[in-house]
Amino acid sequence: MVVVAAGRHRRPAPLAWQAAAVVVCWLAVLAVSSYRRPAGAVHDAALLLHLASVVIGFGAVLMVDWFGLLWLAGRRGFADVLRTAHGAHVPTWLGFAGLLASGVFLGLPAGPKSLAVLVVGVNGVYAGALLRELSRHAVPPAPLLIRCAVATLISQGAWWTAVVLGHLTSRGG
Ligand code: HEM
Repeated sequence: MVVVAAGRHRRPAPLAWQAAAVVVCWLAVLAVSSYRRPAGAVHDAALLLHLASVVIGFGAVLMVDWFGLLWLAGRRGFADVLRTAHGAHVPTWLGFAGLLASGVFLGLPAGPKSLAVLVVGVNGVYAGALLRELSRHAVPPAPLLIRCAVATLISQGAWWTAVVLGHLTSRGG
């Protein structure tokens, strides 16, 4: 049964293509990022856009995960979680795109941070597929919920890793 049909939906590209698009964008950004950290107005504007993108992208993700917790605590319906997740799709990817675009003007991040960024993107594609699967159930089956929980933990771990390592880079001067 389809539980939530929020808005109009085009048929999404196959999962492998979506993941490949993320990997290609990630590689392209790393390839064109400078080894040296630039300074001046361009750097400052890029850092502001970077931080705004964290707020938009990670903020949207946190909202969805918070609604998931409220559902687990019995304080929200399952349809509320799905509706929030569908609504968060655009800001999440806008934020991620903003992070990649602004990152180009900030310089090459440390290896572990680059990896965390890739995990955020690829896991985000997988989470989108899980959401489409969840939307087909009135009561989600346990194995699907376990996959969602794992994807959520990976997402939180990767976002926080990127945020903390980014901040450490900033403080390192
Ligand atoms: C999920 C993706 C990302 C997240 C969550 C993230 C988060 C952050 C945060 C929170 C900061 C610290 C800002 C501050 O403390 O003022 C930062 C700084 C930084 N980020 Fe990212 N970032 C991401 C992707 C990228 C990418 C793709 C690049 C480069 C290609 C990059 C390069 C940098 C650099 C070089 C800094 C240090 C900037 C400076 O102070 O000069 N980040 N990032």
